[in-house]
Amino acid sequence: MKRGAMKILFVASEAYPLVKTGGLGDVLYSLPHALHDRGADIRLVLPGYRALLRQLNQVRILGWLDVRGAEGIVSARILETHHPDFAFPLWVVDCPPLFDRPGNPYVNASGQDWPDNGERFAVFARVAALLAQDTLDIGWQPAVVHTHDWQTGLVAAFLADQPVRPKTVFTIHNLAYGGHFSHTEFVRLQLPSHWWSPEGAEFHGGFSMLKAGIVYADAVTTVSPTYAAEICTPAFGYGLDGLLFSRQHKLHGILNGIDTRIWNPSTDPHLTAHYSTSRILPGKRRNKQALLERFVPQADDAAMQAPLLGLVGRLVEQKGIDWVLAAIPVLLAETDVRFVLLGSGQAVYEQKLARLARQHPDRVFIEIGYDEPLAHQIEAGSDLFLMPSRFEPCGLNQMYSLRYGTPPIVFRTGGLADTVVDANEATLADGSATGFVFDTPEVAEFLAAIRRALDLYRQPAQWRRLQQAGMRQSFDWSQSAGHYLALYSQ
Ligand code: ADP
Ligand code: GLC
Repeated sequence: MKRGAMKILFVASEAYPLVKTGGLGDVLYSLPHALHDRGADIRLVLPGYRALLRQLNQVRILGWLDVRGAEGIVSARILETHHPDFAFPLWVVDCPPLFDRPGNPYVNASGQDWPDNGERFAVFARVAALLAQDTLDIGWQPAVVHTHDWQTGLVAAFLADQPVRPKTVFTIHNLAYGGHFSHTEFVRLQLPSHWWSPEGAEFHGGFSMLKAGIVYADAVTTVSPTYAAEICTPAFGYGLDGLLFSRQHKLHGILNGIDTRIWNPSTDPHLTAHYSTSRILPGKRRNKQALLERFVPQADDAAMQAPLLGLVGRLVEQKGIDWVLAAIPVLLAETDVRFVLLGSGQAVYEQKLARLARQHPDRVFIEIGYDEPLAHQIEAGSDLFLMPSRFEPCGLNQMYSLRYGTPPIVFRTGGLADTVVDANEATLADGSATGFVFDTPEVAEFLAAIRRALDLYRQPAQWRRLQQAGMRQSFDWSQSAGHYLALYSQ
């Protein structure tokens, strides 16, 4: 590390590969590494979930911090670890009553928010704010604290009250999750009373940790330029559009990158065969066959010839799963397509998808759950990738699919609009087309886009050009990391 390197403290509730529930985890791995590669001095602080602690080998105790919780003082042990997957030290807030429990970071086994989430993330934020001020006297004082989503929204608020403090950046990865809690909770957590105002964290009779981040951070970013504009409008703002509109001077849309070392079809260890832009077909075919044969004993000619439509994602309304559910029977009836879908989320979607798979065991393949290798195999083995999200702050899966030569079908919103170029006469002619984009949020339009895609799929030369154009896009972090560094130094 160069002397005088900019010190940046990342604070987040997940980071791949230690703990990941979605794209947030990916970004919290790849963005700090991209900054580290550009000379920044990084620490990343995470909650000490049980699953995370179990993956740590050697830890050093940096110290103890006592902060206010819901029932009095809570004591947290701060651990430092050098994990082989991370090029910089990780700091872990070890507080067993709040984080040492099995399962998901945010919800219990039945999918409900942990009842003490307010306390968990208020305590985490209090501790992070103290670390940001080097309260433990470690001799590491960040110039910038970069926080992510509602779980860390209070960090900027705690720091805003300090006379001398680092600058704060708050990134919105998804406005749909507001971190809303009641007034009773606000009082129980002994949060500063001056936050209780419409200009502060108060939100519809309760308070929002996400809103606190927006109000109190020096700069607010979100993960694509289009989403940055969308969230300033009522349709996408979740009641915060007015606030965001008034803070446009400090709101920046910076497109996420992808980790091109992890997501690379010519080296990906999860794939059956590797391939690259210059020679796509044989490798992709072998991956398709292996993927199909995970679900059926043998992938016969008919199955190999039929277009395979893939989907990976959280099964929630955001992702347009209801449109997918409506489209599948129509497409099964009128074409020979197959589907391979991986995800978990809302029980109704899981059940409906499982039912479709039972009804069409040779054409609809479903895996309910979380499976990192299978996610890679679907990106590589499918012919088309479905991502009809109603809104999408950035979306990583469509970028992975582009890179894997699997053209995505997306709704024109957020990061999907910023990363996929619709295949039409003009874009096909000039070689800029990379996928299929529909403009009206309706099943009929989604179906029309799929039909256009299937049409082009039957034209091998055009199809290869489309695949190659997608694979050549550079979605690595270099540009975005540069934008963040410029923002930090402002
Ligand atoms: P979001 O963050 O809204 O879930 P993104 O497209 O940004 O959407 O990122 C999703 C990430 O999570 C991708 O890395 C994707 O591969 C991964 N993912 C989502 N669901 C699953 C699953 N069921 N199994 C494996 N990986 C998944
Ligand atoms: C969120 C968004 C997704 C984005 C990811 C990483 O989970 O839903 O669009 O790609 O965060 O920023």
